[in-house]
Amino acid sequence: MGRGWEFLRTALFQFDAESIHEATVNGLERIAGVGWGRALLRRMSRQDLLTPALRTRIWDLDFRSVVGLAAGFDKNGRLLRALPHLGFGFAEIGSVTPLPQSGNTRPRLARNPAEQAIWNAMGFNNDGVEAVARRLEHARHSGWIPVDFPVGVNLGKNKDTSNEEAFRDYLAGASRFLGLADYLVVNVSSPNTAGLRALQQPSELIKILEPVLSVRASKAPRTPVLLKLAPEIAGEALAELIHALDPLLDGWIFTNTLQASPGGISGGPLALLSRERTFQAIALTRKPIVSCGGILTPDEARVRVNGGARLVQTYSGYVYGGPEFPVRCGLIATSERGASS
Ligand code: FNR
Repeated sequence: MGRGWEFLRTALFQFDAESIHEATVNGLERIAGVGWGRALLRRMSRQDLLTPALRTRIWDLDFRSVVGLAAGFDKNGRLLRALPHLGFGFAEIGSVTPLPQSGNTRPRLARNPAEQAIWNAMGFNNDGVEAVARRLEHARHSGWIPVDFPVGVNLGKNKDTSNEEAFRDYLAGASRFLGLADYLVVNVSSPNTAGLRALQQPSELIKILEPVLSVRASKAPRTPVLLKLAPEIAGEALAELIHALDPLLDGWIFTNTLQASPGGISGGPLALLSRERTFQAIALTRKPIVSCGGILTPDEARVRVNGGARLVQTYSGYVYGGPEFPVRCGLIATSERGASS
């Protein structure tokens, strides 16, 4: 980590976490609006170091690096012009729910630098499917998203939608984003929507996935559909889920945040669990696995990739590691590619 970022981070961490996040999103959005600003972002992230040797092809998509930005950082697709200039190989926007919602009351985001952890109880605050889809449409039509930078959309359900009706929310999200998103994620693993995690059972997930897959067949059959799970799903329950749902899915994301009460924990305390889930799942499926959770060093990214994860995602690592973190991870993550297979 550079001294410059260390200094800036210390200054930024003096302020309320959500206010800083909002200021960061506003700043990135503005800077990315001008050519020199995008050039500055590429310079700050050392994006020039992402050489063609780092590319990966999965699901017929080209990724310029295996390191992506995890869901929750750009919930509303406001950074679609900035994201391809931050040193990542792909990004996941959302979670998006059919109707806009304001989320839980503040404070609902905090950091714990001693553990390189982030606590959040946001509660799917977002602008809703239509507003976000329009932003993605505009970004695509404007040519802001390069072909080697996949953008996935993470789908959630509204707070007021019952679990019995949850399938409608995922169907509404999928219907709107098919043809726009490079991949879709069914997210039933956020801890901040009451009862959501109860949907992490084969019978419940089949009810959600079947309508999503049938609309995909008619609208955009090649769009991969992934499932993102919580780190608490382990052992037999995990094996059962993979056994039942693997044939329906194109890939898996391990993991979402660790349940706290209230809220969820990201970063350091999640690292071993998320690594373990990733490796357990790799033994049970041949579908691509995206490993997410507690990747705070480039070495941890390499461990996940060497263990068989096809892609990795980071949120906390980016917050703590700073602008060069995605590129550093990308360089190290695949440095032994080919050696182990
Ligand atoms: C998240 N995460 C998240 N995940 C998701 O699927 N939908 C979401 O809306 C959000 N929102 C969100 C907000 C905030 C503030 C944080 C910190 C995290 C979870 C995120 O995508 C990731 O799974 C975890 O943070 C674990 O990765 P890291 O942070 O340990 O790299």
